[in-house]
Amino acid sequence: MNSDWSKYIQGINTLYCSRSLRFSDMFREKYLNAFGIENKGRFLETGCGPGALAEALHRWYPAAEITGVDRDEAFIEFAKRKAPEIRFQVEDATALSFPDDSFDVTISNTVAEHIEPSKFYGEQYRVLKKGGVCLVLSSRRGIKINAPCVEELSDFELEIWERASLRREEYNKKAGVCLYPMNEREIPLCMEKYGFHHVSTEYITVNLTPDEPFYSRETAQAMINSDRECDLEGADTLREIAADIVSEKETAELKRLINQRYDKRLQLYDSGIKQWDTDILMIMIVKGVK
Ligand SMILES: C[S@@+](CC[C@H](N)C(=O)[O-])C[C@H]1O[C@@H](n2cnc3c(N)ncnc32)[C@H](O)[C@@H]1O
Repeated sequence: MNSDWSKYIQGINTLYCSRSLRFSDMFREKYLNAFGIENKGRFLETGCGPGALAEALHRWYPAAEITGVDRDEAFIEFAKRKAPEIRFQVEDATALSFPDDSFDVTISNTVAEHIEPSKFYGEQYRVLKKGGVCLVLSSRRGIKINAPCVEELSDFELEIWERASLRREEYNKKAGVCLYPMNEREIPLCMEKYGFHHVSTEYITVNLTPDEPFYSRETAQAMINSDRECDLEGADTLREIAADIVSEKETAELKRLINQRYDKRLQLYDSGIKQWDTDILMIMIVKGVK
């Protein structure tokens, strides 16, 4: 067990902020329709990260007993503090400690592509009860358009990101990031291969456009600040993966510039000067029955 993912790949704030939006109650009905599962029984979320989806499941299925597991101890510690009413524990998805036929539902979001399929799907299948449902969520190609004030990086920033890019690749490779990518055809085929039947697919879109008039100021700010957190944590990660080639002073300057850009974006929002920057997520949900 380790904290490599949260330290080197994606930090706690990055995943917690972005997933809290992705699994916000604004999109509840879409998920409930796509999942098509009952509000009862034992649910297992594999690779739960800091726990935003498990929290949503707890809100949406209050009669179910939710367990979230991840290999990364830092995520699990954070998730436990944030939502003590949910059971979180450190587990390796390739060798879960649960007995066969333990759960009514297994679910994961953007996890399967990082784990060898026979092990990931094999374990999902093993721990499900007969008739239980496995839900595999993944992000497909969406639309991401930044506001100019956020997009335009200085030469200083471009040079630092370029300097650290090889290191980033090395660490991603070491952690097995996206080692097993599958397209929209391959995931359902793979679930059938590992024993699931009645396999079906569903797609839902999540519209994160701060300037949409139907979003409150608070929600719009959360969207803008989620991107800010992601960029700030990306800069912090440089201290972990590239401290010998990017100095502390450079990281601090990088973070100052990031904050400046997002402060400007918030100012524009508050002045009513629309940017129509957008993040349209397309989430694929593959469902199979044991
Ligand atoms: C892209 S993150 C997604 C996290 C979370 N599902 C979310 O959407 O925020 C991938 C997650 O898979 C976890 N992970 C990768 N390999 C794992 C394994 N063998 N066992 C358990 N968790 C694993 C990582 O620690 C990380 O939390």
